[in-house]
Amino acid sequence: MPNFRGTRFTNAHETLIWASKSEKSKYTFNYQSLKCLNDDLQMRSTWKLPICSGNERLKQKGKKVHSTQKPEALLHRILLASSNKNDFILDPFSGSGTTAVVAKKLGRIFLGIEKDKNYFEASIRRVKNTKPIEENYLDTLKNNRSKPRVPFGSLVEMGVIRPGTEIYDKKKKINAKIMVDGSIKYQETEGSIHKIAAKILGAESCNGWTYWYYKSGNSLKSIDELRQRLRPNN
Ligand SMILES: C[S@@+](CC[C@H](N)C(=O)[O-])C[C@H]1O[C@@H](n2cnc3c(N)ncnc32)[C@H](O)[C@@H]1O
Repeated sequence: MPNFRGTRFTNAHETLIWASKSEKSKYTFNYQSLKCLNDDLQMRSTWKLPICSGNERLKQKGKKVHSTQKPEALLHRILLASSNKNDFILDPFSGSGTTAVVAKKLGRIFLGIEKDKNYFEASIRRVKNTKPIEENYLDTLKNNRSKPRVPFGSLVEMGVIRPGTEIYDKKKKINAKIMVDGSIKYQETEGSIHKIAAKILGAESCNGWTYWYYKSGNSLKSIDELRQRLRPNN
């Protein structure tokens, strides 16, 4: 944030407005992607990002082309949070075209408006020189809520896995048997795939979907793969 007036608190932040048109509007918030960006911790509402400098900063005859060129890292986070591949992004004050550049990289469709001819032309050149990220790498984590829930019992009900089948931990040191109601039996204990896994690990909770494996030929496969088969679009 530029320090236009020097004798007050140093300007150290800019405010971003994250909004939808009305309370009932559908909106995108890629919670899981942002959490992943932040090492699996919920993304905080204050972000510390370096200002735009180095090769990223547009210059003409050694002078900055635009006084408030935003860092691409900022737009990367904003666009990942609030849009998906092929979504339409509008920046009505596009300046040096940072939003456009990041939108192109991330496979979004973009429209920019800029009144200053010099900025506008610089941004067009910048967008032309930008390579989109390969389509294969644009997938992002889906929010849990957007994935239909598949209980382990459904796998049994639908005959994807039979009662009596043995499931194992990754190292095949532990084995449990699947019951007709989707519970599992390990030694003298019985319960859900999650509860039994947590008990074995001495943990308060455990995601059984990633703990248990089943035999497929000579190898072990994660039971999570079986669940994916039941999800639509897979
Ligand atoms: C803060 S700058 C945007 C910087 C941009 N995010 C970047 O990274 O370069 C705002 C821009 O809006 C432009 N602008 C201001 N009023 C405008 C208007 N009425 N129509 C179009 N552009 C306008 C200015 O010329 C300026 O380049």
